[in-house]
Amino acid sequence: MTNSPKAIKNFPFPFKSDAYMYSVNIQPVTNEALFDVDEHYHGEIEERDRILQADKSGRYFAFPHMKDAQWDALEIIMNDLADYYPESFTLTQEGDRWTWLNKKLNLEDTFTFLDETTLPYEPFEYISRQVQEDIILLDQREGDLFLDAGILTFPASWSLDFDAGMRFEEFHGPVPRAHELGVFKKAKAFLMRVQIGKPWTRLNWTMTVNRRLDTSLETYADWGSDRNTVTLDNCGEKVHLRVEVQRFVRLPRSNGLMFPIHTYLISLEELVTNPDWTRRLYQVLKNLPPDLVEYKGLSLYHHTVITWLSQVVDEPELAEFHS
Ligand code: HEM
Repeated sequence: MTNSPKAIKNFPFPFKSDAYMYSVNIQPVTNEALFDVDEHYHGEIEERDRILQADKSGRYFAFPHMKDAQWDALEIIMNDLADYYPESFTLTQEGDRWTWLNKKLNLEDTFTFLDETTLPYEPFEYISRQVQEDIILLDQREGDLFLDAGILTFPASWSLDFDAGMRFEEFHGPVPRAHELGVFKKAKAFLMRVQIGKPWTRLNWTMTVNRRLDTSLETYADWGSDRNTVTLDNCGEKVHLRVEVQRFVRLPRSNGLMFPIHTYLISLEELVTNPDWTRRLYQVLKNLPPDLVEYKGLSLYHHTVITWLSQVVDEPELAEFHS
């Protein structure tokens, strides 16, 4: 499915300069929903359900000590959706008897808060099946952050199953340069001080061939070879800029941290409707160091994309084409 003109306009374009390098690029979230419900809601909720049915144990887990964190996540997500999208979601609380109405999925459940026998799934699974975001819950202990629960159906080339239980610097192990630059040490120190009610956000990016959200290591055989299929003719349609809007939210009961990731895809064809984005992406890709090209999985088609973009950027009638 392609993006509407409105979705293209609102696309979270990630580059502020012509050269990209890893940094602790974290901003406060103010007067904005933590969870985005957009035009792809139904498609993505169905896709998530399909993936969970095929491979639940690889895509969802919560260690037993994460029960409080699960309820924290459910409470924050329900309140966020009800506050920002009241036409679609309602939360009614009478003491610990809560009624959750999700009109988009035609679903209504009354349950007892903190009693998971009253819900059809455990609380984290119940609510995360109703949002487009992948979500990681981190336990904070021993001066570290542990990846101790998660739902991950739309990952950019990593595996939840493999990373389960790891510490912050361990699950970032494969990322080049950032460890030497001290980025993860600083980022972790920052995250461990995030306060209740004061969430933060950052953007991450890569590229994906075809409009495919599930690029997990588990399904590599289904999508890895797509990267061999990019040509100058099909580049605009096939290659997508993939941007993750990530949030960092303190969980009040458990003192854990919630890390929702909303993944947005835009094809190059859609992206070049904005000449500033075209120029910026072209410069960033031209300047991207080889080890980052390799890590982001772009090696097979990086050169083709740059050539394709150079033709669009240099196009003399560009202004006319976009007017
Ligand atoms: C606390 C929540 C976080 C979790 C659970 C998380 C998890 C991950 C995972 C699993 C990867 C993929 C590693 C791989 O290749 O296997 C990754 C990549 C990365 N993370 Fe995090 N991360 C978190 C927060 C942060 C923060 C605060 C920063 C800020 C600097 C950061 C920076 C990065 C960078 C730069 C990459 C490489 C991405 C790329 O170039 O495509 N992460 N993260």
